[in-house]
Amino acid sequence: MMRLDRLLCEAGFGSRSHVKVLVKKGLVQVNGEKAERPEQKVDAEKDRIVCGGREAVRRSFVYLMLNKPPGVVSATEDARERTVLDLLEEEDRKGVFPVGRLDKDTEGLLLLTDDGELSHRLLSPKNHVDKVYRAKVEGLVTEEHAVRFREGLEIGEKVPTLPAELEILSAGAVSEVQVTIREGKFHQIKRMFESVDCRVVWLKRLRMGTLSLDGGLPAGAYRRLTEEEVGALRGLAGLVSGEQSGKG
Ligand code: URA
Repeated sequence: MMRLDRLLCEAGFGSRSHVKVLVKKGLVQVNGEKAERPEQKVDAEKDRIVCGGREAVRRSFVYLMLNKPPGVVSATEDARERTVLDLLEEEDRKGVFPVGRLDKDTEGLLLLTDDGELSHRLLSPKNHVDKVYRAKVEGLVTEEHAVRFREGLEIGEKVPTLPAELEILSAGAVSEVQVTIREGKFHQIKRMFESVDCRVVWLKRLRMGTLSLDGGLPAGAYRRLTEEEVGALRGLAGLVSGEQSGKG
């Protein structure tokens, strides 16, 4: 048995919050009866679930790892700019969206999928999924900065940033660093460095949770995740088996 909202997500009806609205609007029927609650349990093999007149059929998801080059936006469409979807083959594009955003000038690991539930969980601020970035920064970065990153920084949000790790790889007029953060606020790394009077001039994401950028992928190239990589991400997100009801 599994939750109705989960099955609807897995059948491609949208994000978890969207499918909850569909249920609450009375657009979903289970065996001919109007479903009342998104969290009600259903049998994916036996129950007939219909949403807005279309039968909900679970399908397998697509998971892609892209080495995002600079100069493309992390969106599914844009009136003016090239998007990360423009880098995918036509047959890989359907229903796929980026899990979170990298700035236009940021490079590196970007996960693309049509799995709304996994995406929701990886991005949820509650889950504190860690992300590792390599950066080049104008201004001498010192151990004092590392202490301040650990303590949390004021970047103009209601609350300071969560403790972050700053490792100095080389220090000079332009310093090279590795930073690990456990949240994903808008322009977060750039704003953290601005708050200590430094300026990020190059930024690349190397890891997100259990998923590391494949060093063999040139900028702009992508590949499907292996089963192990998908399993590890689903485990991290609390989606250990296909039938688990999930938390949250
Ligand atoms: N932090 C930033 O400032 N930019 C990104 O693209 C990602 C993290």
